[in-house]
Amino acid sequence: MLTDSAKQVLEANWQGAYSIPRHKLYPFQWNWDAGFAALGWAHFHPERAIAELKSLFTGQWKNGMIPHIIFHREDQTSYFPNHDFWRVTEVNAGAPKQPLTSGISQPPVHGFIAELLLEICPEHPGMVDFIRWLYPKILASHRFFYHYRDPNKEGLLVSYHPWETGRDNSPLWDGALQEIHIPAGSLPAYQRKDTQHADSSERPRDHDYDRYVYLLLLAQQYGYDGAEIMSESPFLLQDTGMNAILVRSNEAMIRLGKRFQLDTAEVEEWQQQSIRSFNTKLWNAALGCYSPYDIAQQAMVNHHEIGGLMSLFAGLSTTARTQTQVDYLNKLIAEGYYLCPSFNPADALFDSKRYWRGPIWPQMNWMLARGLQANGQAALAQQVRDDLLSLVGQLGFHEYFEANKSAAQQLTRGYGGDKFSWTAATVIDLEMRT
Ligand code: GLC
Repeated sequence: MLTDSAKQVLEANWQGAYSIPRHKLYPFQWNWDAGFAALGWAHFHPERAIAELKSLFTGQWKNGMIPHIIFHREDQTSYFPNHDFWRVTEVNAGAPKQPLTSGISQPPVHGFIAELLLEICPEHPGMVDFIRWLYPKILASHRFFYHYRDPNKEGLLVSYHPWETGRDNSPLWDGALQEIHIPAGSLPAYQRKDTQHADSSERPRDHDYDRYVYLLLLAQQYGYDGAEIMSESPFLLQDTGMNAILVRSNEAMIRLGKRFQLDTAEVEEWQQQSIRSFNTKLWNAALGCYSPYDIAQQAMVNHHEIGGLMSLFAGLSTTARTQTQVDYLNKLIAEGYYLCPSFNPADALFDSKRYWRGPIWPQMNWMLARGLQANGQAALAQQVRDDLLSLVGQLGFHEYFEANKSAAQQLTRGYGGDKFSWTAATVIDLEMRT
């Protein structure tokens, strides 16, 4: 069992009221990381699961958005872009002054996490009341997406920054980023900090980082939620991962709402439209997978990767499409990969080592395993789970892992940061519940 060591990793990242993903590399609270950390805490310290989410929601904006980073400590300087670069309170009156935050969101996991907390520790004193208290806040964060991020009212939310999707430098975004031409000298001087704390060959390139900064500053001009962003940004993506996770959380919110005898008509309406649009607009028949749609270029993004597989987690795939996805996973096994690489190894842009361009990510495996299980694919679900546990057992509680089996066997560590919170949390949940 890895759970005992996993608990120590979570303990070491605990900051008194919330968890950081990892020291130095990510020294604040991150949005979807906090959801997974709460899941881990729920198994042995439910009070901390509650504290974790309470802390996260202190950063919620008046417009309902849960920011992707909550800068609980203003004196912490090992990360860029920090609060003084985002400058959210200067450009948006609805951003909290305390704690300071970033200006974009991240995958909306908190609806399904709230439901899981009730499932894991229903007897914990105060848990039911806590979820009741949290419910309208999560609902407001979904309303934010439907109100501010669905310009054509399709039920598919649009992200205007790769960081919002959580899959920061997936090759999915390369095409849109290449369209961005930054006039020389137009970006302020800045210094990356991530490459001081992790191997630069495992992190995004400077060329990409310039574009991340450019998009951040563009959104900043319009207060991070202005409608102008949707007309001016060259990066407007309807992402599979974001939208599938939203659907999965809507589903949990409908069930929770009924349990609390609340009116769920609003969520049910969102949900119907999102399911319909996801299945019509994001199915890429040519590639046999779900893939994002680029609003700015009005085209599908033609790559096969892990975000599309989140349709299984959200119960979106039809039987025939599930089979296509199962075939893809079986092919990966036959070709000598662990399940499941973040990007298709057969694609020329695959890179088994670099961040979101190929390696295996624990939280994605966790969602995929649950999705496969729910779709009657118990053996594959088990494989996804076992692959993650064996990688962690061999290579440590890292941020992400080598996907190629024979290459991984030569390694002594995983990639990115070690002693990582969501790696520990997902391992705990996988071991405790099967
Ligand atoms: C990276 C990941 C993002 C995660 C963050 C903190 O930026 O791409 O998904 O939330 O690290 O772990």
